Amino acid sequence: ILQGNGVKGLSEMGIKCLPKQYIQPLEERITKSKIVSQESIPIIDMLNWDDPKVAEAICDAAEKWGFFQIVNHGVPLQVLENVKNATHQFFGLSAEEKRQYSKENSPSNNVRFGTSFSPESEKALEWKDYLSLFYVSDCEASALWPPACREEVLEYMKRSEIVIRKLLDVLMKRLNVTEIDKTKESFLMGSKRINLNYYPTCPNPELTVGVGRHSDVSTLTVLLQDDIGGLYVRGRSDDDSWVHVPPVRGSLVINVGDALQIMSNGRYKSIEHRVVANGSKNRISVPIFVNPRPCNIICPLPEVIANEEKAIYKEVLYSDYVKHFFSKGHDGKMTIEFAK
Ligand code: SIN
Ligand code: FE2
Repeated sequence: ILQGNGVKGLSEMGIKCLPKQYIQPLEERITKSKIVSQESIPIIDMLNWDDPKVAEAICDAAEKWGFFQIVNHGVPLQVLENVKNATHQFFGLSAEEKRQYSKENSPSNNVRFGTSFSPESEKALEWKDYLSLFYVSDCEASALWPPACREEVLEYMKRSEIVIRKLLDVLMKRLNVTEIDKTKESFLMGSKRINLNYYPTCPNPELTVGVGRHSDVSTLTVLLQDDIGGLYVRGRSDDDSWVHVPPVRGSLVINVGDALQIMSNGRYKSIEHRVVANGSKNRISVPIFVNPRPCNIICPLPEVIANEEKAIYKEVLYSDYVKHFFSKGHDGKMTIEFAK
């Protein structure tokens, strides 16, 4: 299927008909009738982030929606533009150049060019290519990450660090965690992965998905998207309703991942989301996954269950949790059952 150039290769060959491996079962496709426009996720201005009202808005959004956008977050617009351009640069490389980073050829497990989500274990494939970079150190990144994007990606990671720290400080305060010491820092943000996602124009977008229904396994995810749109979050009503996350220039989309849902004992919600395929445009997105370290054992924080609250999640080794996530196709909120 792949010829080393992913679905971008298929798209550019000009195929008129979606290959059958990509045809998703009906219930996994998003139809117009499932999309609601009466609701929308909050947009939070972080300019005066030490204002208690801002903190309250962030924590409320993390409890109610698990998803929000931030503006005036302090990461310069130019840094965001540079990462988007660098993403196009990378995917614009020849098949041979990108193939160097495929599973078979990559010099390291920390650098991976691939397609779909977990092709070995999926029933139907997703219409997406990606470059996934697990951050170890600047030194390793300089040696191993593709030159087409590494400087821009590193700069973006560095600049977003401050925002991530602010968000976690605020979210922890509501959980009675007053100080993020070294141990907590490791649990909350001890490792990071950044993905460059490319969703090429699709011949039959209604038959497939860009990304299927899932929740993230991160503590927090910081997502940069371009101006195409196509990310949907599960609506607040219980039925199968989906809310669009509209592109807002200069904003970052923040979402709570499973690890934070577990650590907060369900107080902060890791919400299902999905990406549609697009019939006329290529879309990119760049999520930073802020994660516990693989060797951390995650569970509800002692501060949260101090007041005789019953822990609804058990202890799990984070690397086992992630392994479980990748051992199956995207399946909505099922991953977290592993921690029950
Ligand atoms: C994802 O959640 O996996 C991707 C989100 C996006 O591309 O907007
Ligand atoms: Fe996601």
